Amino acid sequence: MNKKIENSVIYNVYPSSFYDSNGDGIGDLPGITQKLEYIKQFADIVWINSFFKSPFRDGGYDIEDYYAVNEQFGTMEDLKELIDKAHSLGLKILICLVVGHTSDAHKWYLESQKAEKNEYSDYYIWTDQVFDSCPYKIVTGTSERNGNCLVNFFTFQPALNYGFAKKTFEWQNLYTDEVCKKVHNEVKKIIRYYLELGVDGFRVDLASGIVKDDENGKCSCEVWNEIFAEARRDYPDAIFLSEWGQPQYAVASGAFDVDFLNHCYFDGYNRLFRKEAGTNVFKSDGNSFFRKEGKGECKAFFEYVEYALKESKDKGYISIITGNHDLPRIGMGRTQDEMKTVFAFILAMPGIPIIYYGDEIGMPYTNLKNKDGGYNRTGARTPMQWTAGKNAGFSTTDGELYLPINENYTEVNCESMEKDENSLINTVKSLLDIKRRFFGGLENGLEVINDDYPMVFSRKKDGATFLCAVNPSDREYEIEVPEGGRILSSLNAQVSGNKAKLGGVSYLWIYSEK
Ligand code: NOJ
Repeated sequence: MNKKIENSVIYNVYPSSFYDSNGDGIGDLPGITQKLEYIKQFADIVWINSFFKSPFRDGGYDIEDYYAVNEQFGTMEDLKELIDKAHSLGLKILICLVVGHTSDAHKWYLESQKAEKNEYSDYYIWTDQVFDSCPYKIVTGTSERNGNCLVNFFTFQPALNYGFAKKTFEWQNLYTDEVCKKVHNEVKKIIRYYLELGVDGFRVDLASGIVKDDENGKCSCEVWNEIFAEARRDYPDAIFLSEWGQPQYAVASGAFDVDFLNHCYFDGYNRLFRKEAGTNVFKSDGNSFFRKEGKGECKAFFEYVEYALKESKDKGYISIITGNHDLPRIGMGRTQDEMKTVFAFILAMPGIPIIYYGDEIGMPYTNLKNKDGGYNRTGARTPMQWTAGKNAGFSTTDGELYLPINENYTEVNCESMEKDENSLINTVKSLLDIKRRFFGGLENGLEVINDDYPMVFSRKKDGATFLCAVNPSDREYEIEVPEGGRILSSLNAQVSGNKAKLGGVSYLWIYSEK
């Protein structure tokens, strides 16, 4: 278990939209470098979304060359400068490891689809003939080779060959087959290249899905453990963060240090924030717990988290995200006070939270036309709102921007909000400051005291107790709190003796030495 990252916070940057350093209307790596001091106020670790050479038909998650930076973002030297400056500020850098598939423009795939057998023929998963029926997602009839190729997500993302957990068809490889080692070796090479360059770790894309037909990701974890072994030996502090959502497999198996609870496998997360229609990428319907109407529930979330924490105890961490480039913004339809309750909850939970850029100012979401394969994710990728000035301070260009700036930028922007001591951004900073000062040594677990409105949970440290109560609804409640506890932070809450009154949309953080 990597104890060094305990209590860390991750800040997630979508490079096209963070800061444009050269006035071309698109964010870039030097832009991120210039804003590292800003990020440092919120986090210890920066996760940068994919910036590798790519046709960008899926926001860079369709890689054409793992060893090149896509031109619009800069160069490998720019990446090196970014890493060096981050380290000088005490920040760690995570980059994306997108090796479940490549782009169909990758040279491995161009070779693999040739009719003649060659070195790359087995790099992807091919059926024997195009006219075979096949129960998997495939691309068919596009290559010289007589076969269908399995794809992971979009049709231009052919799946790399990590094999299958069990063999059903003649053309399948078992995940233990020698031939799959070719891909493992390529992945090891990529990992080594970037660790040598100085990155501190990887956010591993589609971590659960490399071995096909794999129950509970068991075989995938076995393969990841094998792939990471060398890196872990030579770089024991390297961080592997999985895009999975099941820490009971990803972390418990020892493969990953951190796993983020996302919207795919785990409905508990959706029930907190993303139940209403339009608030998720998938069709959703219902009520979220974090809404003034107070019609949601958090029981399923806590049940799952308690189970996941138990299973992954002493192995690593769970991670709750405010959002990411794959989800409509959490600020959608929430006031700044409601967003404060969201942060009070996420930052109090065990594990390593991830703040998606702009959520600290409650950036909104509008459903924009598809760009770079974002579809209904596009509105969550708009330029960061830095100031009330030209292009929200994101770019100096007079030309087109990567995506339009949200209309509310004259009010919702970092510079203006920093001047108001009660603003969301200042509340987030103050919660983080408290977290830094008081959370060292808190157990990586929790005790759920109430899993309804208001949610109440505590975390222990030696003899001390940290208690967090959050009432996102507009109803009022009274709860019991430790008498004489120190109020670390609160919103619309009053404490008297061992009772606390929680007003509508409120939270309370209390620390008691007893
Ligand atoms: C997960 C990435 O976060 C997402 O943006 C991408 O579309 C899929 N993986 C497919 O690579």
